[in-house]
Amino acid sequence: MSNKPVIVVAIDGPAASGKSTVARQTAQALGWLYVDSGALYRGLTWKALRENVETTKPADVVALVPRLQWEFFDDARAIRFTIDGEDPGQQLRSELVREAVSDIAAVPEVRLFIVAELRKMTAFGSLVMEGRDIGSVVFPDTPFKFYLDANPVERARRRAAELAQVEGRGDVQQVLSSLTRRDQKDSGRKTAPLQIPLGARVIDSTQMPIADVVALILGELRQAGAAP
Ligand code: DC
Repeated sequence: MSNKPVIVVAIDGPAASGKSTVARQTAQALGWLYVDSGALYRGLTWKALRENVETTKPADVVALVPRLQWEFFDDARAIRFTIDGEDPGQQLRSELVREAVSDIAAVPEVRLFIVAELRKMTAFGSLVMEGRDIGSVVFPDTPFKFYLDANPVERARRRAAELAQVEGRGDVQQVLSSLTRRDQKDSGRKTAPLQIPLGARVIDSTQMPIADVVALILGELRQAGAAP
């Protein structure tokens, strides 16, 4: 590995705020690693469901964590992982996982474990990481923190359009109530709730094209001499 300093770009925000697309495209533009931190919470949820662990019982979930063998690898500049040798793939996006993941992400011991794994990812080099607590908890010292938001109806509209592509149906009202429920759980939990990290630049993407958000982030990095 080279001696170049490792730079972390933290992108936080609520579900369907556009942060995944922004983070992926920013990482791509820089040739840096893209890390979707929510995928780790989803991965653990997927595994818990497979092992018939009661996902609403924190003690059962906590007992599962040390039994699992995770492996992380760089797949075309995005983090992928296996758990006990199995790649969860698209099952991370299933409805069952989607509905159970907030309960798992609220367990403090789970967060300790996943935060430690996320911090190790700088071993792969500079990265763009998206999530809910990246600028506040995982990498609080990075100077590059962004908080992406958009109004709930716009977020529901975007997510419904995504679902329509993947699942063939996407009802905006239904998505809106599911998003609102998840926002409340993510913002209301005791450990590392969704919040605007100290020093983060807030970007409202309700009316802003993704390309402009990416350009704004790249502009900040360039201005600071962190990106070419
Ligand atoms: O971004 P996502 O929808 O894949 O996130 C899945 C869940 O994990 C969601 O309930 C929020 C939670 N999460 C979290 O608590 N902290 C993160 N850094 C990323 C996701």
